Amino acid sequence: MTRVALRPAINAAVETLRAAGVHSPQADAEHLAAHVLGVERTRLALTPLVAPDTLTEYRALVDRRAQRIPLQHLTGTAAMGDIDLAVGPGVFVPRPETELLFAWALAQLEALPHDHSPIVVDLCTGSGALALAIAHARPDADVHAVEIDAAALRWARRNADRCIADGDTPITLHADDVTDPNLLSELTGRVDLVVANPPYIPEDAKLDPEVADHDPHLALFGGADGLDVIRGMIPTITRLLRTGGATAIEHDDANGSDLAALLGKQGDFTDIVEHPDLAGKPRFVAAIRS
Ligand SMILES: C[S@@+](CC[C@H](N)C(=O)[O-])C[C@H]1O[C@@H](n2cnc3c(N)ncnc32)[C@H](O)[C@@H]1O
Repeated sequence: MTRVALRPAINAAVETLRAAGVHSPQADAEHLAAHVLGVERTRLALTPLVAPDTLTEYRALVDRRAQRIPLQHLTGTAAMGDIDLAVGPGVFVPRPETELLFAWALAQLEALPHDHSPIVVDLCTGSGALALAIAHARPDADVHAVEIDAAALRWARRNADRCIADGDTPITLHADDVTDPNLLSELTGRVDLVVANPPYIPEDAKLDPEVADHDPHLALFGGADGLDVIRGMIPTITRLLRTGGATAIEHDDANGSDLAALLGKQGDFTDIVEHPDLAGKPRFVAAIRS
């Protein structure tokens, strides 16, 4: 069968995606091509010619991306740390900005005595992204993950099963509400690290179609100011952490100082620090249980 050139198809896809308002048309066009070919994006140049069927499949995916279906729903995966997570309809797609919170969390665990097996809790786990990436990086950790939404939990279970099959230490998934005063009562005062990427977008925010139409509503919105779930889970975090335990909570870029103030008002935290993301926007607040 005559093979056909891939690069002109990629260039055409970039234009299609740009015209559709996709924010990163070049990267997405290349990611989709790499996905169809089953290669790393950096190795696309090594496949200059492809079968016509491959191009047909590629163009169909580009058309769906032009309808603003998230790239990760089309490829079926999103990354966190050193793991890939299966994602799709019904679960929040993990975002690159959360990698900074993840890196901060690992640094906290590194600073603990090396003979100490840490207890870690991930509140609002979604696909299991933070919990599973931490368990992968720290096989000695006892990792618990909490999620209220049944559909998201199914994705988290699927990801957790795959991580176990790949040799990672199992995490414990809890179908529960992070604002429940009795949540994980057996861990009260024993937890070394609580991480959370909760729903934090203010209700009236205007969102891209990829987010508004495809991430679950429950994963996105945190009430009028975006802080409803965060306010509800601060008592949980305070109760779970041991003295000297650490927490990091991701937030809307408008809410960094409000969240820092909430933790300060609680009176049980020191070293409250606001951290920016790679774009320089306020993204998560970290604190230590006093
Ligand atoms: C922004 S997503 C984050 C998912 C994951 N942590 C990540 O970074 O990809 C927030 C998640 O919190 C869950 N959630 C919302 N309210 C919750 C609650 N009260 N208790 C537990 N989980 C909740 C949502 O279903 C959603 O999966």
